[in-house]
Amino acid sequence: MEKILANALGQDVSKLAAQEKRLLLSRLLGRFAHEVRNPLSSLDIHLQLLEEDLQEAPAKVRDQTAGRLEIMRGELHRLENIVKHFLSLAGPSSLDLHPVEVARVVGYVGELLRPEADARGVEMVVKCANELPPVAADAAQLTQALVNLVINAIQAVEQRGRVEISARHDERNGVLILGVRDTGPGLPTDKLAVIFEPFFTTKAEGSGLGLWIVQQIITAHGGAVEASNSPDGGAVFTVHLPLPKKENRSG
Ligand SMILES: Nc1ncnc2c1ncn2[C@@H]1O[C@H](COP(=O)(O)OP(=O)(O)OP(=O)(O)O)[C@@H](O)[C@H]1O
Ligand SMILES: [Mg+2]
Repeated sequence: MEKILANALGQDVSKLAAQEKRLLLSRLLGRFAHEVRNPLSSLDIHLQLLEEDLQEAPAKVRDQTAGRLEIMRGELHRLENIVKHFLSLAGPSSLDLHPVEVARVVGYVGELLRPEADARGVEMVVKCANELPPVAADAAQLTQALVNLVINAIQAVEQRGRVEISARHDERNGVLILGVRDTGPGLPTDKLAVIFEPFFTTKAEGSGLGLWIVQQIITAHGGAVEASNSPDGGAVFTVHLPLPKKENRSG
C-alpha cells in the first residue's frame, strides 16, 4: 500500500500512521473512481448504440457478435460496480447510521446471492439467532460488506459445496457476530495477513479490493473482521459489530 501511495502522490508516506495512510488511500481511490466513471458511462452508451446498429446486420454477424457483446456488457457492469464501491467509500464520514436489524441484512444478502449460488450448485444456508438486538449501522454499506464476503465464499467452493451465513449475539462482549464460512479450500496460512491488503488477489479477474472494502466498512462501524480456517478446511470470516450501550442500565 505504501508503494502505491508514494507513486500516486509523489511523496514519501513511510512516516505516516497506518490510519492516515488508509485515509489517503481511500481519498485517492475515491478520486480515481470519479475520473473513471465518465468514460465508463460513455462506453455504456456506445455499447448500447452498437447493439442497436447490429439489429440491422445479417443474422450471421449478429450471432457472431452476440457472445462478445455480452462479455463486454458483463465486464462493463463489473467495472461500474467497482467504481460504485469506491465512491461509496470515498468520504470517511459517509456512514449513514440507523438502527439496523441484522437479520434482515443477512436474509437479504442470502436471497440476493442465492441465484448465483444455485447456478454453481452451491448450497447456501442462513442461520440467524432469534431476536438479535438492532445495531447502529449504515445498512447499505453493511450489506455491501456481507455481499463481498459471500461472493468470495461462493467463488471459493466447488460444486456441491456449502456456504453458511450466520448472525448471533455475544451478550457478554456486547457485540453482534456475523459469520461467513464455506467448504472451499480455505485460506493459505501464510496469506492470512495479506488478504485484506488492497489489490491482493489470486483470481484471474479479481481486483483484490473486496476484502479491503469489507475491512474499511467494518472498522468505520467500530467493528473488526477476522479471517481463519475451520478445522475441517474452508475459510471462516467473522465480523464483530459493537452494539449501542444500554442507557438505562443501572450501576
Ligand atoms: N472464502 C475464501 N476462500 C479462500 N480464499 C479466499 C476467500 N475469500 C478471499 N480469499 C482470498 O483472498 C483474496 C482477496 O479477496 P478479495 O475479495 O479482496 O479480492 P478478490 O476476490 O480476489 O477480487 P474481487 O473481490 O475484486 O473480485 C482472494 O483472491 C482469495 O485468494
Ligand atoms: Mg472478492
